[in-house]
Amino acid sequence: MSADGLPMVVPAPGLPARVRIHEVGARDGLQNEKTAVPTAVKAEFIRRLAGAGLTTIEATSFVHPKWVPQLADAEELFPQVSDLPGVALPVLVPNRRGLDRALALGAGRVAVFASATESFAKANLNRTLDESLAVFEPVVRQAKDQGVHVRGYVSMCFGDPWEGAVPAHQVARVCTALRDMGCDELSLGDTIGVATAGQVRELLALLNDRGVPTEMIGVHFHDTYGQALANTLAALQHGVTTVDASAGGLGGCPYAKSATGNLATEDLVWMLHGLGIATGVDLGRLTATSVWMAEQLGRPSPSRTVRALSHKDQ
Ligand code: HMG
Ligand code: MG
Repeated sequence: MSADGLPMVVPAPGLPARVRIHEVGARDGLQNEKTAVPTAVKAEFIRRLAGAGLTTIEATSFVHPKWVPQLADAEELFPQVSDLPGVALPVLVPNRRGLDRALALGAGRVAVFASATESFAKANLNRTLDESLAVFEPVVRQAKDQGVHVRGYVSMCFGDPWEGAVPAHQVARVCTALRDMGCDELSLGDTIGVATAGQVRELLALLNDRGVPTEMIGVHFHDTYGQALANTLAALQHGVTTVDASAGGLGGCPYAKSATGNLATEDLVWMLHGLGIATGVDLGRLTATSVWMAEQLGRPSPSRTVRALSHKDQ
């Protein structure tokens, strides 16, 4: 480490020059919080994330408020942040009702969220896998007709708490279905954080074989088993340049109890900047944001980098 709290920069071959971080702290990070976080705090969190240089910040979800009570204030929150210059604010929509709510507020980016397994489709969306894809089809079409960018999440790509191992071809089937509907980008979710690097390589190669180009793939690792950074590096070596992460390592999924926090954005930025990969993020400002958010939530951030940098002088 250099004296200014930044990693030493030593580039490695075969990696992208730049990575786009898709920040999910305000959505995936907060959706599982038991105590209601005030809307003003969420808005301030998003503004601080933007101030730290993040340009894609997933803001909230237009889901059923009873299913995710923490995000029931989506209508109130979104207009408070939608004027941030140069920042894209994707939002999750599970169905037509969700899309209508998002479009009514002028959302320019939405995400549908599918599952690679039947069990999680049922738990998360109250639908079979094929029923959920049938729900998404007109949602994606309507969004595309209105010039809205659509991300397609696929959860449980590397393991499922009810079904165990998830065969890569099962994931590929859902990914190609979302691509064929017209999704602009896919995000491969390791919802419960069990993936290892070889699995990541295998899935990415299979997706390429099935005609899904690496450019449309993002990776979304939760860090339950401490593999998120190793898995990210494997994805970068494959050519992936979109990586999801959550400031401070906040996160979890209310419908998969074994899901823990996402890959912490600070841990990701430390690795990327150390490799000489540009992100546009100011690590000091981002860490300060996560320390502030941890104070709001009343417990320390689980991010190793946040903890190391905030205790650096002691
Ligand atoms: P359902 O109960 O089957 O809904 O839930 P329904 O279609 O039968 O409708 C029932 C009522 O809900 C109706 O009202 C609808 O209008 C209303 P009524 O006619 O009875 O008065 N309704 C809605 N209201 C507001 N907004 C809506 C909406 N939809 C229906 N969008 C539903 C189905 C999909 C709605 C429900 O299961 C749901 O909201 N699920 C969301 C679950 C969720 O948000 N999970 C977390 C995000 S996914 C994740 O974290 C994974 C990810 O991070 C990647 C990874 O890590 O793998 C993305
Ligand atoms: Mg997630």
